[in-house]
Amino acid sequence: IKLKYISLAILVVQNASLILSIRYVRTLPGDRFFTTSAVVMAEVLKEFIVLQYNSIVIQYKDTLKLAVPALIYTLQNNLQYVAISNLPAATFQVTYQLKILTTALFSVLMLRKSLSRIQWLSLLLLFAGVAIVQLEQEGKQKETTVTGPSQNYAKGLVAVIVSCLSSGFAGVYFEKILKGSSASVWMRNIQLGIFGTLLGLLGMWWNDGLAIAEKGFLFGYTPMVWGVIFNQAFGGLLVAVVVKYADNILKGFATSFSIIVSTVVSVYLFGFHVDLLFTLGAVLYRPLFALNNVFLIKRKPYHISR
Ligand code: C5P
Repeated sequence: IKLKYISLAILVVQNASLILSIRYVRTLPGDRFFTTSAVVMAEVLKEFIVLQYNSIVIQYKDTLKLAVPALIYTLQNNLQYVAISNLPAATFQVTYQLKILTTALFSVLMLRKSLSRIQWLSLLLLFAGVAIVQLEQEGKQKETTVTGPSQNYAKGLVAVIVSCLSSGFAGVYFEKILKGSSASVWMRNIQLGIFGTLLGLLGMWWNDGLAIAEKGFLFGYTPMVWGVIFNQAFGGLLVAVVVKYADNILKGFATSFSIIVSTVVSVYLFGFHVDLLFTLGAVLYRPLFALNNVFLIKRKPYHISR
């Protein structure tokens, strides 16, 4: 009975505001929108809302579970900007690879995965290999990198270490939610995105609210900045797919492989010199990966206790 009167009351307000607002936008001077497109757009929007309603609102308890990784990822995504703004790129890369180990640790603790000694060893070797490659590069870049006066090394380092803990925990938490139920990866991303947007807005208001009110939300958005943002959004969705079909540990292998790839590309593009150590690392990479991949294939399907 309550809902009956609430819905009727809302309908009164909605109907009145709809007619008045249509009249208003149709009588404004200037360019007029196509009314036929507005009709289509309303239908599309309705479908979109109906589609999400059941999984997000009705099953709100399930949706709430995603608040945890969303909070942590929001913190992590903000901290990454702090870290990269205060550390040379190579230093950031090497320290951030610590997430290989935090991810393995959380996978064992939260997903009860068992890693054999040799697998732990391969992860340690992977971390050490990436660290060596990056430290070497850093040495080469030192001559050319000018550290700005506003950069704070300690601040960057703390940010990156917290990001590693966060990456491991949030990644494994997301994996647990994803593989512990039948909801699709897309639905999980929408649920994660809702909290991510809300929390991100909160962080934005807290940190930059006044400046953004003055200068605007899109202040300083050059095409390059748009590129960074698109890349980050695409990367996020990619992470979700990788976690669904592989797992977080293999994700670590793939991202560290990208360091080898970028070094090899630099050899061709910029005439970079690679030494024996790098070559050894690159050659060793494949068996290390195979070792963890075989483990993934042989493992029994997930049984996750709720
Ligand atoms: O460095 P790491 O692999 O932890 O980064 C994961 C990134 O992927 C984060 O930026 C996170 O916000 C994003 N992500 C996402 N959607 C998911 C899982 C992760 O956007 N379902």
